[in-house]
Amino acid sequence: MTGFGNVGQGVAQLLAEHRDEYQGRYGVRLLLTGVADRRGMVVDPSGLDERGLLLAKRERGSVSTVAEQGRSVRGEFLESSEADVFVEASSTNFVDAEPGWTSIRSALGLGMDVVLASKGALVLYYAELMEIAHSAGKTVSYSATIGAPLPILELTNRALVGASVMGFEGVLNSTSNVILQAMIEGKSYDEGVQLAQALGIAETDPTLDVDGWDAAAKAAIVANTAFGSSLGINDVSREGIREVTPEQIRGAVVTGSTLKLVSSTSRHDGTVVAEVRVEQRGPADPLGRLRGSELGAVIHTSQLGDFTATVENSGGVTGGIATAYTVLRDVLNLARARGWDSAGPT
Ligand SMILES: NC(=O)c1ccc[n+]([C@@H]2O[C@H](COP(=O)([O-])OP(=O)(O)OC[C@H]3O[C@@H](n4cnc5c(N)ncnc54)[C@H](OP(=O)(O)O)[C@@H]3O)[C@@H](O)[C@H]2O)c1
Repeated sequence: MTGFGNVGQGVAQLLAEHRDEYQGRYGVRLLLTGVADRRGMVVDPSGLDERGLLLAKRERGSVSTVAEQGRSVRGEFLESSEADVFVEASSTNFVDAEPGWTSIRSALGLGMDVVLASKGALVLYYAELMEIAHSAGKTVSYSATIGAPLPILELTNRALVGASVMGFEGVLNSTSNVILQAMIEGKSYDEGVQLAQALGIAETDPTLDVDGWDAAAKAAIVANTAFGSSLGINDVSREGIREVTPEQIRGAVVTGSTLKLVSSTSRHDGTVVAEVRVEQRGPADPLGRLRGSELGAVIHTSQLGDFTATVENSGGVTGGIATAYTVLRDVLNLARARGWDSAGPT
């Protein structure tokens, strides 16, 4: 696994706490055999001690400061981990998708399946990534990249197989929607940002969230998955929440509605369109009734009507830990699909 921030540490915490339970329920024993952050990396093919890694990170700032566990050098990190699955959970960028893009290609080249938390490679190199994975006979799973823990990919890829997906709309960026709700409740934009930061969901610089980049990335990923397109992030028509006007706020308040940053995609006559818009949604609307950091999605099908998935009353399980659950959901589903639960990986 590369990246040991909110998501990476969440994965380590869940493995430490639930390894035996996962083995009992799913018949597969998950070992973390290598982990890297910016300052270094540590490897042990027989399995690292996650609690030691968490302590080392908290007290000394890097996983590489774990004294008693094996070290590695950058070039050999993936190979020496002897992993079956590579989890990419390092910081995203939408310019060159690094450092994830290089690691992902190396992992596929070494015969590993890939599970992504980071979105960069998916929105800059989607077609190339899938082609490399296909040629290698490996899979790329990425449920965690689209409003984790919502099961959007599980719906489009499994539950709705055989049906025709016509469109999708989702509230997928917590930070923007916490800020919008605060503004509806009479607070300023800056107060909304401070609230989102206090909740631990907004970065110090929330640009990727408030200018709609994160929501646009998610719209592109859903479009490519549901419609087989290969949209990049710059193909998504995008607006952010900085430009929301007092009139929009008043219009929502007087009608008892709310404003949401909505990621959507649809297909018309073979053309796939993806966009991000600030939209007014009423209380009866499945996306309009979401509050605070709650997430939701509606998938429109031609034969079966509309499918809605929402995460409400999550009891504070949001952000990194919810994403970590979703990463491990992908890993466990992969293990079952590959038959590792019965025979073990070869
Ligand atoms: N947090 C969420 O709820 C969420 C949800 C969905 C997707 N994601 C995505 O998941 C990824 C991780 O998110 P996060 O919240 O965990 O971010 P984070 O807390 O900022 O952690 C990022 C991690 O990436 C590491 N990193 C950066 N450059 C690296 C490099 N060149 N080599 C190795 N490690 C490197 C950082 O190392 P240092 O610790 O040394 O700085 C850090 O451990 C991001 O791409 C994010 O967009 C996050």
